[in-house]
Amino acid sequence: MNKYETVKDYVYSQYAKINLESLRIEAISHTSQVDLCITQLAMARDIDIETAKICALLHDFAQFTKNCSHAEHARISSIVASKYLEETGLFTQEEMDHIAYAIGQHSHKEAYNDPPLCECLKDADLMARFFVDPKMELSGTKKQRLLDACADLAR
Ligand SMILES: [Fe+2]
Repeated sequence: MNKYETVKDYVYSQYAKINLESLRIEAISHTSQVDLCITQLAMARDIDIETAKICALLHDFAQFTKNCSHAEHARISSIVASKYLEETGLFTQEEMDHIAYAIGQHSHKEAYNDPPLCECLKDADLMARFFVDPKMELSGTKKQRLLDACADLAR
């Protein structure tokens, strides 16, 4: 997984430079937790694992490195990810488009109709948050999303 390793080294090297310790810890821990969750979900759903893991690595990149608003973080992370992936020269246009789209949509957890990679990222993000805080309040849609994701893993 050469592409994954390249992106992972870059993302974590950038996160290691975050000055505020609590934000640095949150960036590294949340990203690695989403990476673990998406690996399991991608395997269960027959989605390309390396592509899914790269989505996890970059999904909140702008939030952690550019201090953007939460409302804008998915859209801006998608733009930043796209630019970075292009610079690596390792990805096809189609791969970059799929990854950027999934990142850009990942905040819309109430919507179910996105492509499988995108839904996988939403589920992994929610799962990771839930595993850290199992007492978190979940709305009807998010609760169902989490239950469905757990059911996919149990199959
Ligand atoms: Fe996010």
